[in-house]
Amino acid sequence: MSAFVFVTPTWDAEPWCKALQKVAPKLDIRLWPNGGKVEYVTYAAAWLPPPNELRRFPNLKIIFSLGAGVDAILGDPTLPQGIPIVRVNDADLTNRMSEYIVLNVLMHHRQQRRIDENQRNKIWQPFPQHAASAITVGIMGLGVLGADAARKLHVMGFNVVGWSRSLKHVEGVKSFAGASEFDRFLGETDILVSLLPATADTDGIINSTLLNKLSRRGPFGAPILINAGRGRAQVEDDILACLDSGALYAATLDVFRKEPLPVTSKLWSHPRVSLTPHMAADSDPETICRYVYAQIERFENGEALVNVVDRLNGY
Ligand code: NAP
Ligand code: GLV
Repeated sequence: MSAFVFVTPTWDAEPWCKALQKVAPKLDIRLWPNGGKVEYVTYAAAWLPPPNELRRFPNLKIIFSLGAGVDAILGDPTLPQGIPIVRVNDADLTNRMSEYIVLNVLMHHRQQRRIDENQRNKIWQPFPQHAASAITVGIMGLGVLGADAARKLHVMGFNVVGWSRSLKHVEGVKSFAGASEFDRFLGETDILVSLLPATADTDGIINSTLLNKLSRRGPFGAPILINAGRGRAQVEDDILACLDSGALYAATLDVFRKEPLPVTSKLWSHPRVSLTPHMAADSDPETICRYVYAQIERFENGEALVNVVDRLNGY
């Protein structure tokens, strides 16, 4: 007996079941939490699983994350050990993230919020625009998503630099690696994009100290922050203080330390903050189910899984 279970407490699992059934009509698909005998379950696909849930399945062979990030799965203190965790690395999700990053870099670069404000007030006020080449976009986390966004921004004429743990080779992008090169990366960056995973090392990394090290040579005289990685990387009070002091010119945030963002957060109404409710790059059920089932087929044919999470690194 081999069954597949979806553990997606914050999502409607119905479209996921339908999509997987379409790709794998013979697969025995169960719905959490009333999926029948837990002993039958060999594959679980999860998004924000409640702690202590995955350990209920004693015969699990693979855990699939239905997103690229795995912090919620790895944060489960009773997560079964020794079972591969496969995360999403898929062109559809990557393209969606690059759309979000390019959209927001351009939104700040072309001062779209100022233009919208002028339209609301019926003010006809052309103002000088600068070239993309006047701006350096620095991407923290030059992984699957960061590298794709970097390539696309480079094609548009922006200077692009990236920072990750290991050195990368992305055409047209200057790569920095590790703690020793972090300050040089920050010093070149006018628009900082974070696509870092949430790990012990990245927790609170976007704080006043970091923001004060960013370049002030860009056209706005102060840097801009875009975070679409994880909220745990940011110190929200520091971001607000830097916006108020002028140390930060503006911010776009898709992710927050606490989600949904509490209505009491000052970020909601800050005039220089654009925010989105963690929707920069959706996981599409059909695409991701095709990806998941292809991995199950590989596994059952004795082939190696791909995009397996390194539990020690935390991503
Ligand atoms: P990835 O391919 O694993 O890339 C992560 C990058 O971060 C790697 O380049 C890695 O460096 C770097 N990194 C990790 N820890 C670091 C550290 N301590 N110092 C410096 N660099 C560090 O992951 P991905 O697919 O690009 O996804 C990145 C993150 O985006 C996910 O983990 C998730 O949190 C977030 N995400 C958000 C959304 C959304 O809708 N907002 C959607 C999808 C994903 P190395 O390459 O050297 O290891
Ligand atoms: C979304 O946040 C993801 O990790 O895919």
